[in-house]
This record gives sequence, structure tokens and C-alpha cells, in this order.
Amino acid sequence: MTEKMRIGILISGRGSNMEALIEACRKPDYPAEIATVISNRPNAAGLQKAARAGLETAIVDHKKFSSREAFEADLDAALRDADVELICNAGFMRLLTEGFVEAWRDRQLNIHPSLLPAFKGLDTHERAIAAGVKLAGCTVHFVRTDMDSGPIVAQAAVPVLDGDTPDRLAARVLAAEHKLYPHALALVASGAAHIEGEWVVVTKDGMESAPLFSPPLNESP
Ligand code: GRF
Repeated sequence: MTEKMRIGILISGRGSNMEALIEACRKPDYPAEIATVISNRPNAAGLQKAARAGLETAIVDHKKFSSREAFEADLDAALRDADVELICNAGFMRLLTEGFVEAWRDRQLNIHPSLLPAFKGLDTHERAIAAGVKLAGCTVHFVRTDMDSGPIVAQAAVPVLDGDTPDRLAARVLAAEHKLYPHALALVASGAAHIEGEWVVVTKDGMESAPLFSPPLNESP
């Protein structure tokens, strides 16, 4: 295969989506490799998991900076030092300014635990249950300045079941996230997915380079 795309993963917490990407990137024919994992929280559990996987890690602690711009300048430098071509936000809990987002325009992905554009922001599962929706899910999208918006690469749906609590629904969605993110990254890194206007178009030939993905409808938990 041609050269793998170098990705930088941004985390803030436990890093289970990061682990799914690590697992995918281990496969010889996967089109991306992890150049660095960066956390804005020094005690993020995901940092140790990344180090155990033999990856380069860095901490850019947002609390040490007097402004968002100063924090983002260091984050940007860390990513460029690692020759990152594409950023994957994986449970990264900082809002980014327009300057950073535009500097990485079309080169930054995020995963959000809802079927966007529904239920942007926090407490998505509580709000999905309160709204009585019968399908929930997750979305991988390119990052734009508005929170949880941007061209959608891929989505997966899971059912909302009678008596679901936010935690039960979150677990079902998370299992789907772990399949969706490696799939979406493969689409982007292989060149199968590209942006036209503000939409993502996936070429038919390119689909063959992304791992097969079946939406986990009807799967437990
Ligand atoms: C995931 O549900 C992700 O979609 C959301 O935050 C959670 C992070 O989980 N943005 P993890 O750190 O990947 O385990």
C-alpha cells in the first residue's frame, strides 16, 4: 500500500475510542498510523493506555495557559512536531477557536455520540431518551467552528430500548462508536471519502479500501 496517513489523536479522558483506533492502525493494510496521542488533561486514563501501546504521548494542559489561543498554539506545535496530517478528536473535551479549526480545516475529525445534527453538545443520551426517539447512534464528522457540526463522514444507528437509562444507551452507542471511528478514518485516510462543498462523498472504488462495517442495529448491550 502507499504511505499511511499520519494521525494525531486528541483525548481528554478514558480513551476507549482511541483504543479502537490503535487496534485498527495495527493492521498492516490499514491506511493510517498514529503519530502521537495528546491529552489536555495530565491525568487522562487514555494517556497510559497509549503509552502501553508503545505510542508517543504528549500533554498540553489547557489550565497552564492564559488564553485559548496560547493553548492552541502549543497544541498546534505538538501536532506539527509529530508530522501529523489528520487530527482525530476522541473524547476531546475542549472547544477550539476558529483560528485552530481553520488551520486544520478538512484535516480534523471528531466523533459525537448522537445522530447529528440531533443532540449536539453534552448529555446527549439523556436528551435522546427524554425526546422519545427510537434510534440513537453516533457520527464521525469533519470539524467546523460550530460545536458538533461539519461534513458527516459516517454514522451508525442503534435502537433506543424501552426502559433505557442514559448509561445503558451510552454503552450501546459506545460499542457502535468503536466500530464506526476506524471505519470512518479508513474512508478518509484511504482517500475514499472527500469533501465536496460541505458534504462528504465516498467513491465506490474507494469503499473497498475501508474495512467492512455493519451497523450494529439489534446488537446488545
Ligand atoms: C465518547 O462517547 C465520544 O463520542 C464523546 O466522548 C466519549 C469519549 O469516550 N465525545 P472515550 O474517551 O473515547 O472512551
